[in-house]
Amino acid sequence: MDQFSFTEICLHQLKMSGVHEGERLIVLTQGNERLDYADAFMAAGQRLGAKMYHMRLPAVPPAGAWAVGKTGLAAMPEAVEALKAADMLIDCIFLLFSPEQMAIQAAGTRILTAVEPPELLARMLPSKALRERVEFAGHLLSKAKVMRITSPHGTDVTYKLNTYPAVTEYACTDEPGRWDHWPSGFVFTGGDDDGVDGTIVVAPGDILLPQNIYVRDPIVYTIEKGWITDIRGGLDAELVKSYMDAFDDPRGKGMSHVGWGLNPDAKWHRMVPGEFPGGMGMEPRSFYGNVMFSTGPNNELGGPNDTACHLDIPMRNCSLFLDDEPVVLDGDVVVKEMQHKRG
Ligand SMILES: [Fe+2]
Repeated sequence: MDQFSFTEICLHQLKMSGVHEGERLIVLTQGNERLDYADAFMAAGQRLGAKMYHMRLPAVPPAGAWAVGKTGLAAMPEAVEALKAADMLIDCIFLLFSPEQMAIQAAGTRILTAVEPPELLARMLPSKALRERVEFAGHLLSKAKVMRITSPHGTDVTYKLNTYPAVTEYACTDEPGRWDHWPSGFVFTGGDDDGVDGTIVVAPGDILLPQNIYVRDPIVYTIEKGWITDIRGGLDAELVKSYMDAFDDPRGKGMSHVGWGLNPDAKWHRMVPGEFPGGMGMEPRSFYGNVMFSTGPNNELGGPNDTACHLDIPMRNCSLFLDDEPVVLDGDVVVKEMQHKRG
């Protein structure tokens, strides 16, 4: 994407995020990564009259795995203080799950993560319609006490929902202290720490993130009182187990966020390796009618588990019920207020 077009989509983003004249914005990058993002956001912010600068952290050695929650900001408290004083942080590093992000949000700074390839940002622009659907979903989820997920492949799992808030992601953010991720379009919460029980069968065509692969043969998870007690299957199950074992942290077997996707611009089939170099899978997390469960940390929701071992697993063709009322049936959203109009 050329820099002019990149600036235009960032301008749309900042308008959707309520940026106005005189607001203090900081774009955060590290090393040589995403400097073109900083340029595009800076140009867009200046057109809106924002007071803005680019904070660039030193490069860090590449990690061997996707270890969430560890960032270069940890060693720079004065940088964290500057970010806490801003109105909005545009995070081009990926601070999610870090204590620094939590402190910055708690200080009232809103945060937008933007790390996906520009072509994907352009294809999944935030919109009022998406926001309304996701906010309705968040409202519904926040009132629910029990979530049950089933599938034709044998998934039957129950999450008790008495502890954690519902979190919305609709790809822009205009409220103090609120975080969002561009692109996105889904809703989630977490089960009670000891309140997830049952079986999840990850089926062919479902997606493992951060592995960025489509599953070829079923992976059967057994979950008891909020912890994975068994993972069985073929090659894909072996990959998951080997990945988890490498963290040498039993808390990686905890249950993380759970929810469903609502973005018709996101396509299940588009995660073709090589097509979006550098992408971290926000498109498969967001596709309309997916049901996504996750394993590992729940500190993002306020829980005690801050393990760095995290997998997100969007699944097709599932059914999801809140307090026995259907929300998603066989991979299709069935609540009118959350449906997108085809045509
Ligand atoms: Fe996740």
